[in-house]
Amino acid sequence: MAPTVLIVGATGNTGRSVVETLPKLLENTKLSSHQIIALTRSASSPSAQALAKLPGVELAEQNWVEIDDTWLREHEVARIFIASHVQPNQFAEEGQFLLNALRAGAKYVVRISTTAANVRPDIPAYYARAHWAIETMLSQPEFKELHWTSLQPNAFMSLALATTAGFIQDFRKSGKQGPLSIILDASTPTGLIDPYDVGVVAAHLLAQEDITPHNQARYVLNGPEDVTGEQIAKMAEQYIGEPVEDVRFKDVAFVDQMVAASSESKNVIGSIKFAPVTIWEGKAKAETTSKEILDLYAPERTAGEMLKQLIEA
Ligand SMILES: NC(=O)c1ccc[n+]([C@@H]2O[C@H](COP(=O)([O-])OP(=O)(O)OC[C@H]3O[C@@H](n4cnc5c(N)ncnc54)[C@H](OP(=O)(O)O)[C@@H]3O)[C@@H](O)[C@H]2O)c1
Repeated sequence: MAPTVLIVGATGNTGRSVVETLPKLLENTKLSSHQIIALTRSASSPSAQALAKLPGVELAEQNWVEIDDTWLREHEVARIFIASHVQPNQFAEEGQFLLNALRAGAKYVVRISTTAANVRPDIPAYYARAHWAIETMLSQPEFKELHWTSLQPNAFMSLALATTAGFIQDFRKSGKQGPLSIILDASTPTGLIDPYDVGVVAAHLLAQEDITPHNQARYVLNGPEDVTGEQIAKMAEQYIGEPVEDVRFKDVAFVDQMVAASSESKNVIGSIKFAPVTIWEGKAKAETTSKEILDLYAPERTAGEMLKQLIEA
């Protein structure tokens, strides 16, 4: 068996473009003999089936949270991409997986973290503290044999613009306006990013023959340009051809539904309401993107392009 690049979260927002981009990047490098294994919990799902058609990729049905060091050794896993879930047990499950990777002798992990301004021990949103804790764990001397890079992307534009796309689609069907819910502040610019671009960055890192310059790096990722809540509302007006009657900026009411639907602590799930505060404070502008990311692969997709894509989907 050849050494493996393992893609965890392959069917998701960021993993899909890692799988689509990596085979080509590995060609004509010293890593060209590596095989790529993309993981899914359900090989029959449409997103997994799409990945199975890609040349140079093996799809494996395996829940990553149950992978142990024996599995990693048997598959000769050398490099790993991981986009973890953000349930309250994220630290336990991603931490366990990364410790198993260390014990199995894996060399390099590229992981998806969260918005850079939120990766702090005192951030109210619980999942961002989990990302901080995982990065802190990886930074300890005990983990020095496992090289790693943590990508800290701004909010994903496909998710942040979903309510606006839905508002426009509903108007086109009914001719009537509902409320327009926008998570951004009316006037604070922020560099929303396409998660597809995040995965392409990750693939470029995984394809580096020498990863030492990127070891223990935390990179900030934003889209190519800033957008405000007001600009998004204006885009919606252009699509529907009339002024928006009821626009709700900084709208995090969806978190109440998450709390109601969850069996986890209300205190913990409810803390997601605080996640966009740093964005509203102007701490996640496009200009904060790390120079190293611009050198590797500069994210391309703008909010306007993403909104068009979502509406036409
Ligand atoms: N949403 C944002 O705006 C945003 C912004 C910045 C950073 N992030 C970070 O992005 C990371 C997630 O990346 P992503 O959005 O690319 O991932 P994702 O699409 O949420 O999930 C990736 C894949 O993981 C599998 N999966 C989902 N839940 C799982 C679970 N409980 N146990 C095992 N497997 C599970 C699913 O694949 P299968 O069903 O095929 O197994 C899913 O397609 C998070 O850590 C988050 O903090 C998000």
